[in-house]
Amino acid sequence: MKCRRCKDKGISSKAIIFLPHHNLSLCKNCFGEWYEYRLRQTIKKTRMFTPGEKILVAVSGGKDSLALWYALKKLGYKVDAVHIDLGIKEKDYSLISREKAENLGKRIKSHLHIVSIKEHLGEGIPELHWLSGRSPCSVCGLVKRYFINLIAKKGSYSCVATGHNLDDEVATLFSNLLSWDVDLMIRQAPVLPEKKGFARRVKPLVRFTEKEDLLYCLIHEIDYIREECPLARGTSSLLYKRLFNEVEQTSPGSKLRFYFNFQTNLRPLLPNKSTARLKSCPSCGQPTTSDNLCAFCRLKERVRSVEAQKKQKQLD
Ligand code: AMP
Ligand code: FES
Ligand code: ZN
Repeated sequence: MKCRRCKDKGISSKAIIFLPHHNLSLCKNCFGEWYEYRLRQTIKKTRMFTPGEKILVAVSGGKDSLALWYALKKLGYKVDAVHIDLGIKEKDYSLISREKAENLGKRIKSHLHIVSIKEHLGEGIPELHWLSGRSPCSVCGLVKRYFINLIAKKGSYSCVATGHNLDDEVATLFSNLLSWDVDLMIRQAPVLPEKKGFARRVKPLVRFTEKEDLLYCLIHEIDYIREECPLARGTSSLLYKRLFNEVEQTSPGSKLRFYFNFQTNLRPLLPNKSTARLKSCPSCGQPTTSDNLCAFCRLKERVRSVEAQKKQKQLD
């Protein structure tokens, strides 16, 4: 298979990938250029941010967010990054994730903020899951949102960019549809504007599949954590991703159509009322829908009281 872009320029080169949903075969060079062009177009078209703005990329150590950090830096955007060390010891998951993020930061000379939740809360995600009674992913999401937003506000970043790709967004949209969760569907967009205390949130990789992010990492020798989060095993999003991969195989372009037709045809029709009014948490000042402490501060209180009970038992 030959690279179509090179062929158009009268050059013959071997393609390394065929993208059925774009009916496009590309060589290594052209794939990198195509990816970066498409990324820049997405940012411009959806008005995510301008080249002068200060962007904070949330990096997990996985392929998507590292590809995003690298590509934005290469394209000349003003980027720093933040990594939340989740304190997951199984398979050295957090240790390896953090290393991958630190290594890329050094290589591309971009600043990386590190927040260790163990240092802040005394426990990692597995323990917080038991203490709070929330699922691991729910407590993990809560803690990540809190610290990422905090760093964004403290560092005066214009927006937070995450590495959510097309496969992630399709799986989430499908899950929201299964339960007809209209509130979540309203909030599922590539750009979420700034809201009282919440930084603008953008997803510049929504037009790329997982496979395309992976290839971008491979051709730029970006080392990422291969392991999936050990706490996310068996979650329904993995099942939905497998399902949509099958659909995509028989009908290329389905993922893009499912997600972007929702954005253009359905989402604008949904009532744009924010069902919850945001207030400031009386303890930490971060935005919350609660009349009292925010969910993060409640979690902190819970950890404190369990630790105090433990100490008391030891004394008794
Ligand atoms: P996930 O929900 O794990 O698929 O992650 C979605 C996106 O959230 C990633 O692409 C990152 O941008 C961000 N993210 C996930 N985990 C972390 C982390 N530990 N630290 C910073 N950002 C993260
Ligand atoms: Fe959040 Fe695994 S990364 S639960
Ligand atoms: Zn709070």
